[in-house]
Amino acid sequence: MSASILLAAAESILAGITASAILTWFYNNFLSGLRENHLKKAFSLLVHPAGVLAALAHFGAIMVGWPRFWPVAFVGVGIILWRARHLVRQQRLNRPWKSRSISLKNRGVNWNQLPAPAQLVLRCLSPINQVDALDVVERRLRVRGLHRDMDGFRIVFLTDFHVHKWMRSEWFREVVQHALALKPDCVILGGDFVSRRWMAEEAAEALADLAGAPNLLAVRGNHDFWTRPGFFGDLVRDWGGRVLSNDVAVLRRGEGALAVVGLEDPYLPLTTRSQAELLARLESLPMPRLGIVHTPQVYRLAARLGCQFSLAGHTHGGQVRLPFFGTTICSCPGKPEHIWGAGRRAGMETFTSNGIGAFYPLRVACPPQIVHLTLGVG
Ligand SMILES: [Fe+2]
Repeated sequence: MSASILLAAAESILAGITASAILTWFYNNFLSGLRENHLKKAFSLLVHPAGVLAALAHFGAIMVGWPRFWPVAFVGVGIILWRARHLVRQQRLNRPWKSRSISLKNRGVNWNQLPAPAQLVLRCLSPINQVDALDVVERRLRVRGLHRDMDGFRIVFLTDFHVHKWMRSEWFREVVQHALALKPDCVILGGDFVSRRWMAEEAAEALADLAGAPNLLAVRGNHDFWTRPGFFGDLVRDWGGRVLSNDVAVLRRGEGALAVVGLEDPYLPLTTRSQAELLARLESLPMPRLGIVHTPQVYRLAARLGCQFSLAGHTHGGQVRLPFFGTTICSCPGKPEHIWGAGRRAGMETFTSNGIGAFYPLRVACPPQIVHLTLGVG
C-alpha cells in the first residue's frame, strides 16, 4: 500500500473523529436535556455512524482527486490530544478507587425482546459487551470533621437502573442482592428507575429487595420526572426510604452525624423548596455534608452548599468508552471527569457512577457499577 493511501486513510480517520466530536458536542449541549423523542434518539444513534460516513466520504474525495482540506485533520489531532490530556488527569483522580468484578449467576440481556437487526449487531459485539457485567468500585473516604463514631460507616450508591424489558428482572434482583450483601449502613439511589412509563410496575417488582434497606435515601432523575414522578416518590417511601427533593437527611451513629444533601435537576419542577430554604436548614446542621445529585451538572450547586464530596449518575459513564478517546455520547455537557469516575468541582471531590442499567443494551469498557464508600475520619 502506498504512503499516499496510508496518509489519506489517517487523514480520513481524523476527519471522522472531528465530525463525530462536533455532533456529540451538539447532542450533549443542546439535545440531552430534552424529553425523549424520535429526533433525539435518531441523533444519538447516528452520531458515530455519521463519523464513519464522514471518514469514508473524506477518503473517497481524496481518491478521486478533490482538493484536500487539512484543517479538518488538524482539528481531529487537537481533539485526540485534548481528550488524552483529560484521560491522564482522570487516571490520577481515580487512583484512590479500587474496582473489582462480580460474577453473576443470571445473564442480563433478554434477546427475545430485541428487534432482529439489534440482536444481530449485539450478538456480534457480545465478546466486548459488558451490559450485564457488574463491578463494585470502592474507596475509603476521609471526611473532614467526621466524628470518630462514624468511622467505618458504609454507603452504597446505586443509580440509573433504567429497568427495561430487554434486561431480565432476575439480573436486576441479583445486582440489588450483591449491593445489600456489602452490609451498608445507608443505601442511596440516584434516580432514573425506568426509561419508559409502562415499565414502572416491572421496576417496582425487580427492585423490591430494596424495601427495608438501611437508611434508604433517593433523588429522582429526569426519566422519573418524564415518566411517573409521583410513582417513584411513593415507591421509595413504601420501601421505608426518603426522597430528597432539595432536602437534607441526617445520618447518625453514636455521637457522629453526616448530612446528606439531595439536589434535584434544575429543569425538573419537582420541588417547591428553594435553595435559600435549604441553605437556612443546612446552617442549623453543623456537620460534614455529602451531596447526591442525579446529573453532574448540579455538582456546582452541591459545592456551593458546602458538600465535601458528591455522587451522581445520569451519564451511564458514556456506555461506550474508546481507548485513547474516552466517552462518546454521554447526555451531559461538561468536562470528561464529570462524565465518569472521580473528578473535582470547585474544591469538592466528585464521583459519577456508570450506573446499573443502560439506554441501549451495549456497554464497552464501561461496566455497570455499585459504588461503595467507607467513611473515615479526615
Ligand atoms: Fe438521567
